[in-house]
Amino acid sequence: MVGVSMRILSGFGAYSGFITILAWLLLTESFGSFAQNDVDCLRAIKSSLEDPLGYLGSWDFSNNSRTSICKFIGIECWHQDDNRILNIRLSDMGLKGGFPQGIVGCKSLTGLDLSRNNIRGNIPNNVSKLIGFVTSLDLSYNQLSGEIPVDLANCSFLNVLRLDSNHLTGQIPLQLSQLTRLKTFSVANNRLSGQVPTFANANIPAESYANNSGLCGGPLSPCRKVEG
Ligand SMILES: *[C@@H]1O[C@H](CO)[C@@H](O)[C@H](O)[C@H]1NC(C)=O
Ligand SMILES: *[C@@H]1O[C@H](CO)[C@@H](O)[C@H](O)[C@H]1NC(C)=O
Ligand SMILES: *[C@@H]1O[C@H](CO)[C@@H](O)[C@H](O)[C@H]1NC(C)=O
Ligand SMILES: *[C@@H]1O[C@H](CO)[C@@H](O)[C@H](O)[C@H]1NC(C)=O
Repeated sequence: MVGVSMRILSGFGAYSGFITILAWLLLTESFGSFAQNDVDCLRAIKSSLEDPLGYLGSWDFSNNSRTSICKFIGIECWHQDDNRILNIRLSDMGLKGGFPQGIVGCKSLTGLDLSRNNIRGNIPNNVSKLIGFVTSLDLSYNQLSGEIPVDLANCSFLNVLRLDSNHLTGQIPLQLSQLTRLKTFSVANNRLSGQVPTFANANIPAESYANNSGLCGGPLSPCRKVEG
């Protein structure tokens, strides 16, 4: 920025250089840190979820320059003065709706906790394009249905993945074994069946697979070969 301003200073004279610097200062002042994406991300999340208990009602976007989104309930930023969001924790707030696609705007997100709400529908099959850098994803105790998307295996930073107590069906994608950083994994209390993945660096207890329609392998009894 300074380099560009200096070139403008020498090229077009002090006046236009001054204007450039002034414009830059005004921009920095009104957007804090240029993390407008993260503000838009929260706006989109808020507008896509029903909030019968009014928790997100406290997210007030009218004071862009002064009220930091970092002070919003459930939001944790990397630094207090810089709007980049580190974690979103909206557990047990009675939130209803589909998985919030608008989260794609929160580019610096490392943790998402939407547990104990009424999130419905499928886990998006492009989930790694939406929250590709999260180390922790907790969607437990919701109303999610459909299959666990293979694309979750592309969220390669995951340490913690909790999908327990939903209505998920089908097989657990064996590709999840690619998640080499995974330490905690639970899909208990769903309607899953078939072989469970093997994880290189995690010791997943049988409890993590409890109360499903028929899982086998790993810490459970071995899968029987299909007869015939
Ligand atoms: C915006 O911020 C100003 C100064 O901090 C405050 O007086 C005002 O009530 C705020 N407006 C809203 C809508 O929150
Ligand atoms: C996940 O990664 C695989 C391998 O790189 C790629 O083929 C696939 O398209 C990815 N899925 C998505 C939804 O990006
Ligand atoms: C993810 O998939 C949804 C539904 O198919 C689509 O609307 C959205 O644009 C996709 N987002 C990205 C970032 O690929
Ligand atoms: C499995 O279901 C039983 C009966 O509903 C419940 O008591 C138990 O806590 C469940 N197990 C797990 C690991 O959630």
